[in-house]
Amino acid sequence: MFIEDDAQMESFWIQTAIGAIKALTFVCDVITFPVYLVLQRPWETRQQSRRVKAKPVSNDKQMVQYRSVDPPREIHVKMLQANIDTLEKMLKYVSKIYSNQRCLGTRQILSEEDETQPNGRVFKKYKMGEYKWKTFAEVDKSANSFGCGLRKLGQQPKQNIVLFAETRSEWMVAAHGCFKQNMPIVTVYATLGDEGVCHCINETEVSTIITSHELLPKFKNLLSQIPKVNTIIVMEDQLKPTDTTGFKEGVQVYKFQEVIKLGEQNACEGVAPEPQDDAIIMYTSGSTGTPKGVQLSHQNCIATMKGFCDMVKINSDDVLLGFLPLAHVFELLAESVCLLNGVPIGYSTPLTLIDSSSKIMKGSRGDAAVLKPTCMTAVPLILDRISKGINTQVNSNSPFKKALFQFMYNYKVRWTNRGYKTPLVDKLIFKKVAKLMGGRVRLIMSGGAPLSSDTHEQIKICLCVEVIQGYGLTETTSAATVMDAKDMQYGRVGAPLTVTDIKLVNWEEGNYRVTNKPHPQGEIIIGGDSVSKGYYKLPGKTEEEFFDEDGKRWFKTGDIGEVHSDGVLKIIGKTLI
Ligand SMILES: *[C@@H]1O[C@H](CO)[C@@H](O)[C@H](O)[C@H]1NC(C)=O
Repeated sequence: MFIEDDAQMESFWIQTAIGAIKALTFVCDVITFPVYLVLQRPWETRQQSRRVKAKPVSNDKQMVQYRSVDPPREIHVKMLQANIDTLEKMLKYVSKIYSNQRCLGTRQILSEEDETQPNGRVFKKYKMGEYKWKTFAEVDKSANSFGCGLRKLGQQPKQNIVLFAETRSEWMVAAHGCFKQNMPIVTVYATLGDEGVCHCINETEVSTIITSHELLPKFKNLLSQIPKVNTIIVMEDQLKPTDTTGFKEGVQVYKFQEVIKLGEQNACEGVAPEPQDDAIIMYTSGSTGTPKGVQLSHQNCIATMKGFCDMVKINSDDVLLGFLPLAHVFELLAESVCLLNGVPIGYSTPLTLIDSSSKIMKGSRGDAAVLKPTCMTAVPLILDRISKGINTQVNSNSPFKKALFQFMYNYKVRWTNRGYKTPLVDKLIFKKVAKLMGGRVRLIMSGGAPLSSDTHEQIKICLCVEVIQGYGLTETTSAATVMDAKDMQYGRVGAPLTVTDIKLVNWEEGNYRVTNKPHPQGEIIIGGDSVSKGYYKLPGKTEEEFFDEDGKRWFKTGDIGEVHSDGVLKIIGKTLI
């Protein structure tokens, strides 16, 4: 063999070294194979992956209706026994069982300091401390006081109230304070733009807005367009004092802690909501036009929580990292499921998540490293970014390390697909990547949009985690389907939850029919207790997209799907182009 230049020389050595590693792993495989075969029972893993999860319960030439075959799990049964049918009862229940355990955690910001970068520029960064926790009993007590504080300020049961803030522990406390007084909370995304935000506030006729230090200045200018608003409550910043001066006359601004104090000094009775009462009016941008407020009742939320708990196994030592917007129904329900199971939630932000996040000072650790979460929620966009980050990291390595990583990656993919675990390779190679997120993450739940198969596989392999995705809309209170963690296939969104039925209905315009082979195809219609009563003050729009049938509420999703023989749904398109 002629070696012509350095690059070729290098490539030759890499080939040789990889060849040697291949030979070595082959020897290892031969030695460990019988052991793994007996210990890991891969045939069982494969069988569990293929398990039938839902079956047709009725069908004709126009439609086919699927239902989960799984029985309710322990926590679902407990909810029935304890008659937990509202979020208010849920918090009461868990605050008794888990009273002194950690519930909501906030990372302490010690100071903000100038840090000079290698390029000479100066950025403001946080020096950060530990997580500070509130116990379940404390959260319940704060929520109670907050609710009474609101009553003292004149807010009435059944009167809407806007909650417009980033994800943080006060968000949850405020929401439950409102539930305790049966005040429906209206949630809005900042991304709706000023006009959208004003529209939501006008339409729901609120007089009180709960917001944060960061978002407060926004309202100074908007108040003239939302004339009914007379009270603003602001969640404080850990370091900076909030400027509450210069607001329109007649508008009172209170600090979050002031409202809690007010409630402590003016104890009051709760006003328990009924299951049918609105818990949340959640505004979504939709694809076009003005935002629509989806009415989510307590019953809707409780139904989804039961379905989630039947599908996703939560352990008593789990810890959730909360950082998606709580105005997103998927995050709100995922966090509520954690509360229901006594799982602590530590809050984070994209700016402080990992050691290299933009606000973290040198020498301070990112939130994930301090919290060491076991579960996370994510949207595909974030997972795509992590995946890209891993690729960049790998590509910046020497050609040898790069080739080694690629080889080990393919090796793990091969064995994982056959139902094996690869503990040695995980320990040597992939656990280092997993350290990035604190090293204990076992489950990532992805929602909000379909997750690409490539990203799904890469995250699962490199971070040594289970990645499950679900499918659902705000109108169906998040999840309608959730993947079984044991399902080894990529690109599918799971089987219907125990609380929802899924129908496929012919969509002739696109040639999607339930008689199609090999899989029935059609528009996805979701039915069950998790389906909303409709859009706030939009009876026409509600009529178009919702209907009642067989004692169930149904929602036409406008998505096209197919259902495989194991009862698992795959999204393949949309009816609206
Ligand atoms: C909200 O209502 C006020 C007063 O009725 C009006 O001036 C304003 O334009 C409305 N804004 C939106 C976005 O609907």
